[in-house]
Amino acid sequence: MQSFIQPVIDRYGTSSDQLLPILRDIQSEFQHIPAEAIECVALSLDIPRTQIISVIEFYSFLHSTPQGKYALLVSDSITDHMLGKQDLMSYMASQLKVSIGELRTDGLVSLNNTSCSGMCDQGPAGLVNGYALTNLDRPRIDAIVKLIEQNIPVQQWPSEFFMVKDNIYLPGLLLQDPIAPGDALKARFQKGLQQTLTEIDVSGLRGRGGAGFKTAMKWRFCSEEIETERYVVCNADEGEPGTFKDRVLLNTYAHQVFEGMTLCASIIGAEQGFLYLRGEYLHLYDKLQNILQQRRHSGLLGNNILEQGLNFDIEIRMGCGAYICGEESALIESLEGKRGIPRNRPPYPVSQGYLNKPTVVNNVETFFAASKIALEGGQWFADVGTKQSQGTKILSISGDCTKPGIYEYPFGTSIKQVLHDCGAASDILGIQIGGPSGTFIAENEVHRTLAFEDLATGGSFIIFNQSRNILDIVKNFTHFFAHESCGFCTPCRVGTLLLKKQLDKITEGYGSAGDVAALEELCQLVKNLSHCGLGQTAANPILSTLERYPESYQQRLKKISYEPGFDLDASLETARRLANRNDAGAHLAQVEED
Ligand SMILES: Cc1cc2nc3c(=O)[nH]c(=O)nc-3n(C[C@H](O)[C@H](O)[C@H](O)COP(=O)(O)O)c2cc1C
Ligand code: SF4
Repeated sequence: MQSFIQPVIDRYGTSSDQLLPILRDIQSEFQHIPAEAIECVALSLDIPRTQIISVIEFYSFLHSTPQGKYALLVSDSITDHMLGKQDLMSYMASQLKVSIGELRTDGLVSLNNTSCSGMCDQGPAGLVNGYALTNLDRPRIDAIVKLIEQNIPVQQWPSEFFMVKDNIYLPGLLLQDPIAPGDALKARFQKGLQQTLTEIDVSGLRGRGGAGFKTAMKWRFCSEEIETERYVVCNADEGEPGTFKDRVLLNTYAHQVFEGMTLCASIIGAEQGFLYLRGEYLHLYDKLQNILQQRRHSGLLGNNILEQGLNFDIEIRMGCGAYICGEESALIESLEGKRGIPRNRPPYPVSQGYLNKPTVVNNVETFFAASKIALEGGQWFADVGTKQSQGTKILSISGDCTKPGIYEYPFGTSIKQVLHDCGAASDILGIQIGGPSGTFIAENEVHRTLAFEDLATGGSFIIFNQSRNILDIVKNFTHFFAHESCGFCTPCRVGTLLLKKQLDKITEGYGSAGDVAALEELCQLVKNLSHCGLGQTAANPILSTLERYPESYQQRLKKISYEPGFDLDASLETARRLANRNDAGAHLAQVEED
């Protein structure tokens, strides 16, 4: 064990913020983190064993018990379900003779669910040993089963199983004309710091990660902090179900994203940057490392960039399967080698972020757009879009349409236009905009527009036709939040679980009108009392569908004012057997009211 771990420690160093990369390497060698490895790492990094155990327990891609030599995960996104995930997964389990959630007795294979893997345009999707598997169907599963039974290393599996396509259908202002490496930085050095920041300001660029904070303001605040050790972080966690545009930007436009980060570093005065890449995008890791290396060779990263005295470099850090790590302060905690628990704010990351130093955290698309704005000027961007939402927005479109993929639209575009372009049929039931934490709109709202002042979105756009069931959709989203709650605060930890139970009770036909009222009340509690954005939005799917489709909930109700969540009489069966009684007095009747 020591002989494996020592070189890993030598590679990453003994700073405690290197804990996650070290644990990831151990996991990929042993398919879990053995107790002996925990001891070694605790000693080398000088952190308590219990801290390492709590980190392992927090992240869903880290395990303290063995996973299969082939660890299979199948994405549980609603779009995967729409594409037949449930049947396929049962088929996979039966062919591999392993139960879902279990390790096969010979240790060769384990099979489990995972949250949305970011492949909604090419699902049903999964992961094998962390690498994305796309377009799963029965023939592909048969082939995978054969490869596993023959013990063929994943590296030798057919490359088409791992093919991740970009599927760009509508490139706009930014996608159709990417910048050449170095051009934005050259423009920045020509114009000077203040003018470049003014261009970003004039462009009106607002963060593309969902919240829409003005980018120039964030960069200015950070640059004005007294503390001079500052950091740039690119948030590529992209965990919102239905969102995959950052994956495409990093696959095909990574130079421009890294250029945007370098531009930001030059403005705020940072020497170190991080790309926090979600674990599900492991397939991009080597490619991105090569691009960073190319940029170092071309003088676009490292010391004295473009011979202008700017020193800056970027490190890639992999996430370990936790949606909450997309929340910027949780992401920073994760970068520091801890569990991804959102911090109290203020202070905001711009004043106290990574290692408590001023830090800019921006979405991939924000850096991508900023670099082009530095080159073309702020007005060029501001001329497109609406008054409050300038420029364009890149959408990841999936669900019931003929062309799921990537589309770039000026803000202000109507939903109707989007539906038309992606080949959505006329029998629309509704559209989930902004992922489960966003808004579900009904068919009669398609005149509404993509814009911060109307329908804001980080990029997720999922279409549902009339063949879909509202409650199935809401159930999937509600289970997602309960699974992804980080557990830090009670309103969310307990609340999301209660939401799930209460919704299940109704969808399974045990609900009453009183249960719907209780569900609504619970939604308000979770929304208003939770510590961070996850809990504050977890009830959105229920609230927005209750408002638009009350009849879908009503249809599942029994005609009683109250129905218990379990069968009290049946639960006494064991007691009756023990007491050897089965008379009327040993039974409890549930009284139904008219
Ligand atoms: C639960 C949760 C998950 C989030 N996930 C992401 C994410 O995957 N990517 C992202 O850029 N922002 C995400 N955000 C928003 C970030 O906290 C932050 O606002 C954003 O990265 C800032 O970048 P921007 O200004 O460029 O949008 C998430 C927020 C919450 C509350
Ligand atoms: S709201 Fe949920 S995710 Fe956010 S801190 Fe509380 S428990 Fe964690």
